This record gives sequence, structure tokens and C-alpha cells, in this order.
Amino acid sequence: MREGTAPVIHRLDYQAPTYWIATVDLTLDLDPAKTLITSKMAVKRNATQAHGALVLHGEELTPLRVMIDGEPVSFRQDGNLLHIDAPDRDFELVIRNTCCPEKNTALSGLYTSGGGFFTQCEAEGFRRITYFLDRPDVMAVYTVLLRADKAKYPILLSNGNLVEQGDLDGGKHFAKWHDPFPKPSYLFAVVAADLVAREQRVVTRSGKEHLLQVYVRRGDLDKTEHAMNSLIASMIWDEARFKLPLDLERFMIVGVSDFNMGAMENKGLNIFNTSALLCSPATQTDADFQRVEAIVAHEYFHNWTGNRVTCRDWFQLSLKEGLTVFRDREFSMDMAGSPSARAVQRIQQVRNLRTMQFPEDAGTMAHSVRPDSYTEINNFYTATVYEKGAEVVGLYQTLLGREGFAQGMALYFERHDGQAVTCDDFAQAMADANPDSALASRLDAFKRWYSQPGTPQVTARGHYDAAAQTYTLTLTQRNPKAGEGAAPQLIPVRMGLVGAEGHALPLNLAGQASVGALETVLLLEQAEQSFTFTEVSSQPVPSLLRGFSAPVLLDDGLTDAERLTLLRHDADAFNRWEASQRLALRRLLDAVQSGQALELDIGFLDAMRAVLRDPQLDPAFKAEALRLPEAAYIAEQLPVVDPQAIHNAVEAAWDQLALALRDDWAWAFEAHQVEGGYRPTAEDAGRRALANLALALLVRGSAMLADPVWPGKAYQQVKDATNMTERFGALSALVQAHAGLADAALTHFHEQFAHDALVVDKWFMLQARTAERDGKVFERVKKLLQHPDFTLKNPNRARSLLVQFCNLNPGAFHRTDAGGYVLWADQVAALDAINPQVAARLARAMDRWSTLAEPFRSAAQEALKRLSERPTLSNDVREIVTKALE
Ligand code: ARG
Ligand code: ZN
Repeated sequence: MREGTAPVIHRLDYQAPTYWIATVDLTLDLDPAKTLITSKMAVKRNATQAHGALVLHGEELTPLRVMIDGEPVSFRQDGNLLHIDAPDRDFELVIRNTCCPEKNTALSGLYTSGGGFFTQCEAEGFRRITYFLDRPDVMAVYTVLLRADKAKYPILLSNGNLVEQGDLDGGKHFAKWHDPFPKPSYLFAVVAADLVAREQRVVTRSGKEHLLQVYVRRGDLDKTEHAMNSLIASMIWDEARFKLPLDLERFMIVGVSDFNMGAMENKGLNIFNTSALLCSPATQTDADFQRVEAIVAHEYFHNWTGNRVTCRDWFQLSLKEGLTVFRDREFSMDMAGSPSARAVQRIQQVRNLRTMQFPEDAGTMAHSVRPDSYTEINNFYTATVYEKGAEVVGLYQTLLGREGFAQGMALYFERHDGQAVTCDDFAQAMADANPDSALASRLDAFKRWYSQPGTPQVTARGHYDAAAQTYTLTLTQRNPKAGEGAAPQLIPVRMGLVGAEGHALPLNLAGQASVGALETVLLLEQAEQSFTFTEVSSQPVPSLLRGFSAPVLLDDGLTDAERLTLLRHDADAFNRWEASQRLALRRLLDAVQSGQALELDIGFLDAMRAVLRDPQLDPAFKAEALRLPEAAYIAEQLPVVDPQAIHNAVEAAWDQLALALRDDWAWAFEAHQVEGGYRPTAEDAGRRALANLALALLVRGSAMLADPVWPGKAYQQVKDATNMTERFGALSALVQAHAGLADAALTHFHEQFAHDALVVDKWFMLQARTAERDGKVFERVKKLLQHPDFTLKNPNRARSLLVQFCNLNPGAFHRTDAGGYVLWADQVAALDAINPQVAARLARAMDRWSTLAEPFRSAAQEALKRLSERPTLSNDVREIVTKALE
């Protein structure tokens, strides 16, 4: 573990290295207790920098010898740096060292899992394998020789192409791999394990043949079909949409059960958390199928956006992550097909942004898309860098159009293929490819999206002048979190006007050429701006920020009646959903702020019933519109947050929706059963989503009415369902309603799937995120910590209980007796000794402590202080708690 006070690293301090490394010949003699690494490097002087010592990174390594041009040389170790007196010229450097994979519980570098060897090198794991200039701007061509016991590790993989393999004495064998593409060390990977592969040969447009392989443990092969299909679909999509082909003869994906993140885009050898790879109708839900498709695509797309063009330094992380999330979202939307299914995807993206990224951007870890400083880079793989970063990339496309965006991408690759570059380079390519665009003329203003943290707050107020037949819309923006020297951001507001009868009004914007369009994009670029529409024959309802055209908080100032108009008539499906959310949000906030019990009015309930019964709307859309806003998003609207008040309001709202629409839920459940075999299509998944929501509310209502029928049906469905989506839906319905049959159903489910770790994760997860009632959830979580299946060593398992409870279940976590905080501090400390990266994620449950109401606020601060005073915190956790207390 890295301990002590690590330095703060600043973006503006970037300097090119004194030496480059052109080629690396690595030999790994793999042994769980002591792996021997020999690294032969062609080191090149970088003449642009003054001569100085060669300082290599190395962590938890034992150096054996260092040689320059065949001669042993002395070296000095200083913490995690190795200083070598190196000559002022090019030379060959050979280093021998050992590391201990089986003790590597941090899962960064080379580690063992399930009896095999795996690596994770992003961001700074390569230095835990051998000494190196472990920074993304040092790009080298790798040749890798692996030697290992043949019976235990029959499969030996690394990046690129297999050039040689064979047997060795003593039951060992070897494989030699060569990757022709220069790459940064973070994209290096090795796998040595007993695995089997699903294989497929494909021919791409250019006529080249490629071998695709998905490696998993024996027994999991039947769960790899969806990943393979997703990979092939991603290849076809990237060629069609961006003309980006696969550049490798062989593309491998490997699944591993112990993994810190979702997956990793190592060149030609993607390594995946099994939770982001394996799919079977019997053990995974529709949401899992969708997630696997998105992550397979994401890692595949990195081959261009990340690998062919990589980051100069880690401050540029969003250059590859924001862009690649944007690309995988576009892919998923195209895969979903219908306009309605696309809208549902967008709704889910925005719901996720609001519950994860908005709180982050307002909290103690707030940072811009391109941060200015960090202590531990692993703490910056955040919703801001990924999801807000993707929103920012989306802004280019909104400003430039799909064609202009594609041209920007083409210019980016033309200029920078094979290079390590910055977000500025990307922005410049976009602008230069579209010289006459609104982007090119405002590039500096646009780039504030990269430098200013915080979510801009936009207000919109309209004024209709009946006599003049004009409608004037005044937009303002402010961003209190943006920091010193902040200036207005460039905010594209996609919008339309809806007439009283629900029809779209033609837009005639004073001073603009294009007339009569039904939709336009307003550019808000000043603190305040007014837009006047002419020839408006009646009072319109503005439909603003369609498709969520910018990541802002919008105060639209609309009345309930206007929102109901949008809910019924808006041409933009996203804004119809948004209207439903705003109707619910206003009622929830009123209850929370007034301290009164929530009482849903007939008008709201009728509107929700109308959505549920509307024959024009898709089931998937209905399921999203009828879902209440998340507690985390509600909290972001409040200056002082009482998590229990929010919890009570949300629970009361669900209760009332359950009872008031009881007949409608029964209809919805019966009417949306899917006949025939399981297919993970958007259409079938939508029907299942609505049926599951209906069942949840029916069981909830039954629990209140002491009616045994629906709980009985749900219990039967837990036993008899033919797919996991329906089985887990029924189980969730019982558990979330605290129904009498919940325990029996949980026991049955656990017995049935005890052998399948990913399903057992779901079992933990459900119990950890159940809405609290009388402290029962907290008691259960404490008991589950002692469950024989629970372990902190496996990140998926640790997250399934602890992150679900502490970070994602505020109503259960925030207790007046501070019990949740005590549990949190203990578990962060215990986890930190094993895996700092996962511990740091858990540590972030306290990001928003300072806005909590008393007694939560003081108790949370107390817990943070006690944790921060522990002598042995990792840099990862220390950075989080230090920032929380600043
Ligand atoms: N580049 C990976 C992805 O988003 C994430 C890996 C980050 N790993 C880490 N330990 N920080 O696809
Ligand atoms: Zn990524």
C-alpha cells in the first residue's frame, strides 16, 4: 500500500520526459509467489529536455539488477522511484525484478484470480510489474515472452499477435506475443489461466479477416454469445458511422471475477469483469444484457479513441473516456432502434447523470471534466470525467450536426493517429473541420466546459404579448461552483413551442433567417439573453432543453397545467418524460420543505394513470415516466438535506401510487406479459420493465391492504420464472414491499443460485438497497456482513453490499443514531487494507455530508474525522477524506 502524504500533481506542471522508450522486450516467468520479470528497453534521449537522471516508477517490486548496454550499473531507490545515472544518449536498458502476484489484493498490476494470472495497468499498474516510465505519453512497441506451468495455465495471452509458442522442460510452456502498435504502458496486458474461448472469424469491409475470441472459465462458455454478438455489432457500427475499422488480426476479450472496474481496453486484449461480460437469460436481467452490450462496445471503441490516439497525461482522461462513452451511447441508441427506444436510452442516461454526476459536481470531490490537480489518479475515474465528459462531446455534435461531428473526428485521426494528445487537440480538430460553425467562432468560450466544474443553473421565463403576437423567452445562467474567473458557458438549448391544443408552433425568431421550423437550438452564451419569437398566435408552452441538450439544471418556471400540456403533447419524448418528473418532483419537494405528509392530488394521479393507459406510448417509456425521481436528485434541489424527510416523502408517494392506481397496475401487469422465448430486445425488455414496475406496486399495495393474492403470485414467479428479469423483478417486489413472503423468497433464490457468484451479488445488492423500514434494512446489512458468502476481497461482492448500502441507499444509511456512519468508517478502513481503489469508492458515500441537516451533519463529520486520523490510510482514501474535510 502507498502510504503517507502523497504530492498533489498539477496539470500545468506537465513536462515531456527526458527519455523515451521505443521498444520493450518483456519476459515473465509466471509464479504466484514470485514472478520474475526481465525487461529490455531501447531508451532514446529526448533532446528537447535537459539531461538528467533516468527516474523510473516502481511499486511493490524487488529490483535484482540494472544494466546499461550490457554493463551492470548502480541504482538508487527512493520510495516508489528508481534513480539510474543514465548517459546523455540512446542506450539499451535491462532490468530484472520480481513481484508477488498472489499477495496483490489491490488488483492493480499483475495479480491472481481463480487460479490464473491477470493484469490491470490503467492508470498506474504497470509500475507494479516492472520499473518503467509509467506515463501515457511514453509509447513503446512491446514483445512479450510468457513462461508458465502448462497444466495450470494452458492459455498464455498478451497484446497483439502470437508469434511463437511451444513446450519447455519441467511441465512448462511458453508463448511469445508481438504488438506492432506503439502503446503506453497502461494498455499492456497479460493473461495466464485455464480458460476456454468462443471464437468467430469475421471479414470486414476491406476484405481483411479477423479472429475474435471471448475467453472465460470452463462452464461459462454458454454465457458469451451476447458479448460476441455485441462485439461484432460494434465493429460493424464503427466502420459505418465513423469509418473506423479493426486494425488487428486478432481481438481478444477475457473475463475475470476479481476486477476493480467494469472492463479495460488493453490493445487487442480487453479484460472484463465477468459482471460486464457474461450473459444468460437464466442468470442476467435485461439491464445486464444492455450493460454488457454497452461495455463491450465501449472497450472496442477505445481501440481508436484511446489506443490509436491516447492521452498525453492523465488530466486528459476525458479525451478518451468522455468521447468513448459518447460513442457507446450513440451505438446503444442506434441498436435500440425506434425513436421511442432511443428516447428511453436518453432518459436513462440523464437519470444516471442526475443521480451520480450532479451530486459529485456539487460535492467535496467536485472537479472539472479536465481536472487541474489530483493526488491519486484512480480517484478521477468519475461520473464527471465519463458521463459529463460524454455530455460535452455531445455538445459538439449538437453544435456541428452529425456530419460536422464526423468530419471533426476524421480530422482528429488524420492529425493525431499514433499520438498522445490533449482535450485542446480534440476541440481544435472539431473547430478546424467546421470553420464556419458556431463552435469555431466561440471555441474559447466552449472550452469552459472542460475547465469549469459545477452544473450550470439555467432559468427560463417567457412573456407572451398577445397584441404584438410575440413570445419572448429570457434565459439566464449562473454556476456558483465554477470557481475563480468563471465566465458564462456555451449552452445549446434545443427547444420548441407547444400551442394550447398541443400542436407544435412554427418558430419565427426575430433576426434569424430560417422561419417556420418546429424546433431550433438557441445558443445561450451570456449570463442573460432574450429571444423573441414573432407571429405567435396564442400563448405557447415552451418545451426547453429537448433531449437534454446540455448538462444543466433548468428552472423552467412552468405551472402544473403547462407541464401537463407537455406531458401529453410534446413532440419530444424526452421532454414528455421530463414533465412527468417535474410534476412529481414539485410534489416531493413541497412535502419535504413544508414538513407535511405528502398527499398526492387527483390531478397528478390522473395524469399518471393516463400515461399508464395511453395506447400510443411504449411500455418502456411508461415505466420511466411512472418512476419517481431518485432521492439523490431530490436532495440536489435542496440547500439543506434531511435524508429521512426525502425518504418518507418518496415512500409515501409510492404507497399512494400503488393504491390509487391499483386496478391500472393489475391491468398493466397482465397486459405486458411477454409470450414466447426470452429475447433481450428493447421491445420485450420494455414490456418486462413495465410488468415488473406494476408487480412491485401491486405487491406494495397488497402489503398495505393485507391482501395475499399479489404477494402469492410474486412468490410463485420467483420460483417459476423462466428468465432472471422476471424472477428478480418478483423477488425485488417482495423484498422492497417488506412483504411477509420476502424472506422465504430470498432463501429460495439463494439456494437456487448459490453456485453463481454474479447472481449471489444480485441477492446481496437487493437487500442492501431495499428502502428502509423501521431499521430492518440496516440490521440486515449488518447481518449480511457476517454471511459466509460475503468477502471484502472480491470487489463485486464488496460493492454489492457496501456501496449499494452506503452510497446508494440514503434512507437506510443516514440514521439519527449514526450507525450507518460507524459501519461505513469501519468498512472503509477494512477494505482499504485490501483494495484502496474500491475502498476509495466506498469512502465517497460522504461526499455531500456538509449539506446534511442535523444531527446527520455533525455525526458524518465526526465519522470522517475519525477515519482521517487513522495512521495507515492509502493515498486513495486519504485524498477523498481530506477533500471531504477541507
Ligand atoms: N479505461 C477503462 C474504461 O473505462 C477503465 C479502467 C480504469 N481503471 C482504474 N483502475 N482506474 O474502459
Ligand atoms: Zn473507457
